[in-house]
Amino acid sequence: GKAPVRVAITGASGQIGYQLLFRIASGDMLGKDQPIILQCLELPGAMNSLKGVAMELDDCAFPLLKGIVQSDKPEEAFAGADYALLVGARPRSKGMERGDLLKANAEIFSVQGKALDKSANRDTLRVLVVGNPANTNALIAARNAPNIDPKRFSAMTRLDHNRGLAQLADKTGSAVTDIEKFCIWGNHSATQYPDINFGTVKGKSLVNTINDQKWVKDNFIPTVQQRGAAIIAARGLSSAASAASAAIDHMRDWTYGTNGQWTSMAIYSEGEYGADKGLYFSFPVIVDNKGKYEIVKGLKLDQFSQERFDATRKELLSEMDGVKELLP
Ligand code: NAI
Repeated sequence: GKAPVRVAITGASGQIGYQLLFRIASGDMLGKDQPIILQCLELPGAMNSLKGVAMELDDCAFPLLKGIVQSDKPEEAFAGADYALLVGARPRSKGMERGDLLKANAEIFSVQGKALDKSANRDTLRVLVVGNPANTNALIAARNAPNIDPKRFSAMTRLDHNRGLAQLADKTGSAVTDIEKFCIWGNHSATQYPDINFGTVKGKSLVNTINDQKWVKDNFIPTVQQRGAAIIAARGLSSAASAASAAIDHMRDWTYGTNGQWTSMAIYSEGEYGADKGLYFSFPVIVDNKGKYEIVKGLKLDQFSQERFDATRKELLSEMDGVKELLP
């Protein structure tokens, strides 16, 4: 059989971590024939809780699970990592300013970027940043890892993408798999732009099928943008299971490809569509069966789309400006 791959997860005993580890170990991310070693990073104060999670992983007797590393040292947790899911982040506490939140996380992700640079498997590594502000955290981690190709870093907008698919399937009375060529542009934040203009449902234009621009503007876009808050309001807890599921989708598709279908990933921008070079920006991408992604080229954005694209682009630039002293 295949040799095990090393999957590092930070914030492993948090809400998302608890949803994620078991599904990765069961083979949902990399397939039922790919053995895995889980390498968990937590804060020193959460090591006991992590120990409990590791006990439960043992008790699942997952055939694919070949080892569990538990560490509070980034270099140890990232040693030889082929995959790194950076989930752990500093949550916003009461009264905390946005700028302070950005800086607290910038420090975490600069340390982790340096640790990845030293100890991960640079030739195979795929990094997914889930912890917020995810795009800017990915930027910081990548810039602190000078020996790793910045294209090996990404931030998660797949949850937003999946949320959009679910809304569109519901509105058109179709299955999520009937919806194609939908995408999220920009930041994983309330400025993200879920774009249906190129979308199809069973091969027919989504715009024409829905034929209700008011619904798109006043209902669909805000629903996707505000879905996280709506789930917290309903559940009293954040959307951890769906976030974990999206992280699994993102890594699986980045490894095995999307069969010609579009998905959304926040990736290193070379300036495509006017997204400033160096930003981690969500684009429509297609991943080939060797695990190489390409941004979908040649799309024409109308004025409505361009305005939204610019708003999310400007927000990312201002986030970058807020952490510039931590960018080597
Ligand atoms: P949580 O607070 O339940 O868990 C976070 C865990 O990270 C905690 O166990 C904490 O001890 C750990 N942690 C914090 N700093 C760490 C560090 N420096 N190294 C290692 N571990 C560290 O939070 P939850 O619900 O699991 O969410 C995690 C992050 O994911 C949050 O930032 C949240 O905003 C973000 N998120 C992102 C989504 C996306 O679509 N990109 C969707 C949902 C959540």
